[in-house]
Amino acid sequence: MSFLYLTSNCNIILFKDIQEVICIRALEDKILSEGLVLPGEILKVGSFLNQQIDTTLLMDMGSEIARLYKDSGITKVLTIESSGIAVAFAAGFKLGVPVVFAKKHASINLSDDVITSEVYSYTHQKTYTVVIGSEYLGPDDTVLIVDDFLAKGNAIKGLIEITNKAGAKLAGAAIAIEKGFQGGGDALRAQGIRVESLAIVDSMSDDSLTFRRQDQ
Ligand code: G4P
Repeated sequence: MSFLYLTSNCNIILFKDIQEVICIRALEDKILSEGLVLPGEILKVGSFLNQQIDTTLLMDMGSEIARLYKDSGITKVLTIESSGIAVAFAAGFKLGVPVVFAKKHASINLSDDVITSEVYSYTHQKTYTVVIGSEYLGPDDTVLIVDDFLAKGNAIKGLIEITNKAGAKLAGAAIAIEKGFQGGGDALRAQGIRVESLAIVDSMSDDSLTFRRQDQ
């Protein structure tokens, strides 16, 4: 394991909205300066996203997600507990809509009427059931799925299944950090699903990390 050094290729593209440039640069710089590459293709970002949260960066990410989806008629943001909740909250707050999070464990807070999906976690090598109370999502909803990480894409697929089972419309997904080299995001895009990731890591090792250039 080692700290990553600030070697980002400059991602400023003149025709991009300035808010997008600032947000993407801030996130990429944070990954480079504070991210740790762990065995098993894990990028540890506990200092600003997964344990301690950089609240300014978080709300900036929410603003950027809201900007990307402002014309999509979003009525609900949907995520999975636990680390997705912070990013989903920021996005939902900026879009002015509620956030629904799927639970991974049975809870007395759930009604009897639930919508479930089976999710296989590549990282944890196990399948778990995610569940929401059916009263929180329905045919009148247009859903934006938000998560902190996208690797193989199984969590997003589970949330898409929940959205479909609820009869809601899927607008797309927004991710803080996509590990592009694990292919989940591109597989979803190939199916015609809109996936917007604020930072896409295309390669990473103990001493270097590269981002995908996103010209949109
Ligand atoms: P997938 O959904 O894209 O297929 O990925 P996977 O199942 O492998 O991911 C399982 C968990 O690991 C998720 O959180 C996901 O957010 C997280 N994760 C995957 N890759 C990384 C990584 O490189 N760095 C970090 N920090 N997290 C990663 P989870 O287990 O559900 O935990 P949590 O949300 O409760 O924290």
